[in-house]
Amino acid sequence: MDDLKSKYLRLIASAADEAAIEDVRVNALGKKGEISLLMRSLGTMSPEERQTAGPALNALKDEINSALAARKAALGDLALDERLRSEWLDVTLPGRNRPQGTIHPISQVTAEVTAIFADMGFAVAEGPQVESDWYNFDALNMPSHHSARAEMDTFYMHRKEGDNRPPHVLRTHTSPVQIRSMQAQGAPIRVICPGRVYRADYDQTHTPMFHQVEGLAIDKGISMANLKWVLEEFVKAYFEVDQVDLRFRASHFPFTEPSAEVDIRCSWEGGTLRVGTGDSWLEILGSGMVHPKVLQNAGVDPALWQGFAFGMGIDRIAMLKYGIPDLRAFFDSDLRWLRHYGFAALDVPTLDGGLSR
Ligand code: DAH
Repeated sequence: MDDLKSKYLRLIASAADEAAIEDVRVNALGKKGEISLLMRSLGTMSPEERQTAGPALNALKDEINSALAARKAALGDLALDERLRSEWLDVTLPGRNRPQGTIHPISQVTAEVTAIFADMGFAVAEGPQVESDWYNFDALNMPSHHSARAEMDTFYMHRKEGDNRPPHVLRTHTSPVQIRSMQAQGAPIRVICPGRVYRADYDQTHTPMFHQVEGLAIDKGISMANLKWVLEEFVKAYFEVDQVDLRFRASHFPFTEPSAEVDIRCSWEGGTLRVGTGDSWLEILGSGMVHPKVLQNAGVDPALWQGFAFGMGIDRIAMLKYGIPDLRAFFDSDLRWLRHYGFAALDVPTLDGGLSR
C-alpha cells in the first residue's frame, strides 16, 4: 500500500494538465482502478485482515482523492496566472492614437473666416485658378490699357502658335469670382470667395502663390455703412476682441467707386501685435461700393441694385493673428514648422465653440 501511495502521489505531482490528472484518477480510483480493485478484494479477506486493510485502503483512497483535488486546483491557478499574464492590458494607454497631422494655418484661417461670414449670411463661392483675362481684368473694369493691370505681375498661360486670342492668366486676385457668382446667381447675393491667387513676386511678405478672400454683398439700399458694420463684426470676431477701431482711407480700385482701404487700430508692444488698442494702424484690406460697370458686366442692373465688395489677404491676416513672421515658410512643407504653427486636426472653428481654441 505504501508503494501504491508513493507511486500515485508521484504521478499526481507530475500530471501536467487536467487530462493527465483524470488519467491518474481512472487508473487509481476508476471502476477498474488499482485501488478500487483492492477495495473490492476486501470481501475475500478474513475478518481480521479486513479490519486492518479496510481502514488503510480508505485512508489511501482519501489521500489520493485530496492529492488529485489539490493538484487540480494548483493547475487551475497556474492557468489563470498564465491567462492574466498574456491578456494583460495597460488601461492607462490612450484609447485612440493621437492624430499625427495638423491643420495648416491657411486652412484654419479660411475656416475661421468662413465661419464668421457664414454667421452673417454669406455663402462660399469658388472660381477657377486659371482664368480668362476677361474675368480677371476686363469685367472688373480693368481694360487692357488700364495701368492697374500692368501692376499685377501677372502669370500668362501659353497660347498655341498662331492663336491670337488673349491668353488665359493665373488669376491675380479673387475678384473675378464676384463676376462669376453674379452671373450664376444674379442679385441679391452675399458671398465670400476664398482661394489661391498668383503674382510674380517673391520676398519675405510675397510668394508667387498666395490666398485671398473676396466678399460681395449686392441688394437694394446697401451703403458704405453696411460695409463698415460687416467689417467691424468680422475684425472683432476674427481677432477675438470686444472692441475695434477701423479707419477707412480713400483709395482707388477700378472695380469699386468709392473705394477705401481699411486699417485697424493696433499696438506692437514688445514686438507682439495687439488689435483694438494702441497708436498704430494696420492695413488689412481693400474695399468699396461695387462699380456700376462691374454690375453691368456681370448682368446685374446697376439702376436697381448696389452693394459692396472687399478683398483681403488670408496669409496676411494669418500671419498677424498667429504671429508668423515669414510668409514663405507657409509653403515650405517643413514638418517642424507645421507642427509648431498647425492646429489640432479635430477642432473645427465655430463662433459658439471658439474660433481658435
Ligand atoms: N482685388 C484687390 C487686390 O487683389 C483687392 C480688392 C480691393 C478687392 C477692393 C475688392 C475691393 O473686392 O473692393 O488687391
